[in-house]
Amino acid sequence: MIKTLAVVPGDGIGTEVTDAALDVLQAVFQASGHTLKTESFLIGGASLDVYDTPINDQVVEACKRADAVLLGAVGGPKWDNLPPEKRPEKALLRLRKDLGLYNNLRPVKVIPALASASTLREEVVSGVDLLVVRELTGGLYFGLPKETVAHPQSNGERSVDTMLYHTFEIERIVRDAYEAARKRRSKLTSVDKANILATSQLWRKTVDRISKEYPDVVTEHMLVDNCAMQLVRNPKQFDVIVTENMFGDILSDEAAMLTGSIGMLPSASLGTGTALYEPVHGSAPDIAGKNIANPLATIASVAMMLRFSLDMPTLADVLENAIQKVLDDGYRCADLTQGALEIVGTREMADLIKGEALKHL
Ligand code: IPM
Ligand code: MG
Repeated sequence: MIKTLAVVPGDGIGTEVTDAALDVLQAVFQASGHTLKTESFLIGGASLDVYDTPINDQVVEACKRADAVLLGAVGGPKWDNLPPEKRPEKALLRLRKDLGLYNNLRPVKVIPALASASTLREEVVSGVDLLVVRELTGGLYFGLPKETVAHPQSNGERSVDTMLYHTFEIERIVRDAYEAARKRRSKLTSVDKANILATSQLWRKTVDRISKEYPDVVTEHMLVDNCAMQLVRNPKQFDVIVTENMFGDILSDEAAMLTGSIGMLPSASLGTGTALYEPVHGSAPDIAGKNIANPLATIASVAMMLRFSLDMPTLADVLENAIQKVLDDGYRCADLTQGALEIVGTREMADLIKGEALKHL
């Protein structure tokens, strides 16, 4: 099979971790007789430096044409003080919107070898296996008006963001979440703030209606503040969590720490067009260029890509098993030193995964 991949490494450690993951992906492709054509593009701060815009139209078009998109991370202190339309994060938001990526899957699975690496007690985190389904193209991130204007009456400025949801936006993400729950342990926790927010009341009403189509799945509603607490109190109660954009952003970072490091968490963004895969961690400018970033979240994102976009579930299994084996053998990157037998760099970690994966092809 021939597959095409658009690669947008972005900034900071984005380049190192996508390089590492691509190296692994190319190796397993070749070993199984497939061809992977990749094309790389600048986005985020890297694109601002060259083109004075966080993303070019041509890049968006190339992503639309590819079989899948692999993204590293965007942002860094160098571009922090630019006006809103020139922030590196705009690139990510535009890709999400233009590719119609409304469904962000963030699986949080505590690998046994890492259960002692979490800041939470081992008995609380061991066995955690949950999926955050985050709505990705609505809510506060995209609702209009979104602006800051002068407000002479108060001698200052006035800012507004708008939390906006339509029924259809809630319906499609909730259906996807139910389908995911059906393939897992058949429990869905819908997270909202229905005691305060109108959007959450519409969300809850919509979930209740759709829940009737899924009588085999247990549905529960949870307020977002309670969910934040339950995630550290008893995370094993969760199977699939479905929630709106901003809540999902916050809760998925919190859930990531159950695994010991945010450097472990992969994600897939699916929707109506080409899907996009990216590690949940950011660009970590403080450790960029030092070959110490953990590439496992990106490699795990590539495994999700093999499963959801490239129709190669066997290769996905091979990569996921390789990650598990290399961790079982005691290798870690610098973000997870606890319980490590050997600390390795970004490239070395990718080589270990590649070596292990190739044994099974
Ligand atoms: C994420 C990130 C992004 C978000 C930022 C970089 C815009 O935090 O993917 O979770 O808030 O969605
Ligand atoms: Mg985030």
